[in-house]
Amino acid sequence: MTDRLATLLPRPRSARGLTGTFTFTERTSIVAGPGADGSTDLVRRALSFLRLPLPQRGTPELGSVVVTLDPAAHGPEGYQLLVRPDRLDIVAGSTAGATYAVSTLRQLLPEVAWRAAAARGTVWELACCEVTDAPATDWRGVMLDVSRHFLPKREVLRMIDLLAMHKLNRLHLHLADDQGWRIESARYPQLTELASHRPHTALGHGAEHSGHDGTPHGGYYTRADLAEIGAYAQERAVTVVPELDVPGHASALLAALPELGSVPGGKYEVQTTWGVFPNLLSPLPAVEQVVDELLGELLEVLPSPFVHLGGDECPLGQWEDNPEIQAYRESRGLPNMAALHGDFLRRLADRLAGRGVRAVFWDEAFGSGGLRPDSIVMAWRGDEVARKAAAAGFQVVRTPVFPTYLDYYSDDDPREPLAIGGPVRLADVAALDPRPAAFTEAENANVIGVQAQLWSEYLPHARLLDYRAFPRVCALAEVAWTGAPSTWPEEPERVRAQLSRLDAAGVEYRPLGDPKPWQRGGTGARAFRSGYPMAEVTRALDELAAEDNPEGLQPSS
Ligand code: ACM
Repeated sequence: MTDRLATLLPRPRSARGLTGTFTFTERTSIVAGPGADGSTDLVRRALSFLRLPLPQRGTPELGSVVVTLDPAAHGPEGYQLLVRPDRLDIVAGSTAGATYAVSTLRQLLPEVAWRAAAARGTVWELACCEVTDAPATDWRGVMLDVSRHFLPKREVLRMIDLLAMHKLNRLHLHLADDQGWRIESARYPQLTELASHRPHTALGHGAEHSGHDGTPHGGYYTRADLAEIGAYAQERAVTVVPELDVPGHASALLAALPELGSVPGGKYEVQTTWGVFPNLLSPLPAVEQVVDELLGELLEVLPSPFVHLGGDECPLGQWEDNPEIQAYRESRGLPNMAALHGDFLRRLADRLAGRGVRAVFWDEAFGSGGLRPDSIVMAWRGDEVARKAAAAGFQVVRTPVFPTYLDYYSDDDPREPLAIGGPVRLADVAALDPRPAAFTEAENANVIGVQAQLWSEYLPHARLLDYRAFPRVCALAEVAWTGAPSTWPEEPERVRAQLSRLDAAGVEYRPLGDPKPWQRGGTGARAFRSGYPMAEVTRALDELAAEDNPEGLQPSS
């Protein structure tokens, strides 16, 4: 038997082998130990890949799986897995910890454990061991942009499985942008009738696109779909963080509800090209009210402790040009439109807070100032803005373009399929230090985690999503869980083991060497173009972040 203990990903805090083996059989039962009543159902569901009956028993017998919850011993997401020949113990801080214990156990079985079904007669034998583990960060996320290209519900559910496999605990769904609105609304059916599809999509790179593809694109999640996604994620210890990006990136919303716009009598269309558009929602109270209604509807079916309100990339020209908005700004005593941007976002966050929900924002919202102190800032424009937001007392999730934008090229090999620019190599992701030495201790105490972004301008379908996401997400998961840079890509045995698990799960990851022939961009519409070089992207973003409103950088109470 290979030493699977040494191949776990993410690497656990401590693991040691013990003598003997434990075998799951038709007779293996599950027992709720102290505090664990509700968790045994969840553990049984997580073990369903074994295709064994796993009956619940009141007291342990030979070969039982015993689940105990002990938050004091293991922290909210920690666990201990103790495998002995006659009994398997899971002691966890919470149901999430118990889920992670099962995920670890599954990695300790042969790769077939990651297939949807195992051949009849498969022997589920585990080498005895003790694993004690807990994550170093609270927010270990992946963002899927389902607006630029819609991702069918089945693929979202599959991605939740893959997050759970890697002990990632946040699925941030970017549900609305200029190119499509993906949420069914009971109150505003025109959102899905008009805003959930576009007549065609730009071909080639956004900077120099070569016409359109002549093919409609669209899709949306029904309210039942959203409820299903939330429930499926919750069973796997993943919290879905829905994003309604406002007041910018709003062309699709405005195509359906033009009265929410900042241009009186304006007409809007769902966009068919990529970039930053001038179309902003109006910041007036009537618009705030409608956005709040949409948020209320969304939270009814997809309850979450966090909602992302975007706030990024808002050219303020349409507000400057609108006398009613100017008058409103003055009436609120705000010195400029950036302050009104912060004020609009804060009013929405206050309304979320009234529902017990914390707002999350891209870092421009912090740059405008005036946010609620409990807002969470996703720092995408680099480390300097992450640091400033953390120093100002905000909890920060680090999402820097380099190296967490996994929609960028994995390599500068011209055989790569078209992406926005880059590269962001696997080694770059692995080298990410969630809490950098350059940050003070107090700043790092406010860094609550890291997240990978999969924007989808250049990710038209799920096969390419797999290719871009994996194995870079594996490295990000290890960084997020351990709270330190990872050496995983340089550990051939661990890489081999994890790629075998991904193979078994049917993931079409990018091989570490060359892309497979059918994964290449070829000479057609998906041909490689160098796009935006990473050094230029990060320099431009640094400059943008440096322009933030300096008075606004304190949390207001
Ligand atoms: C972003 O990339 N606009 C958050």
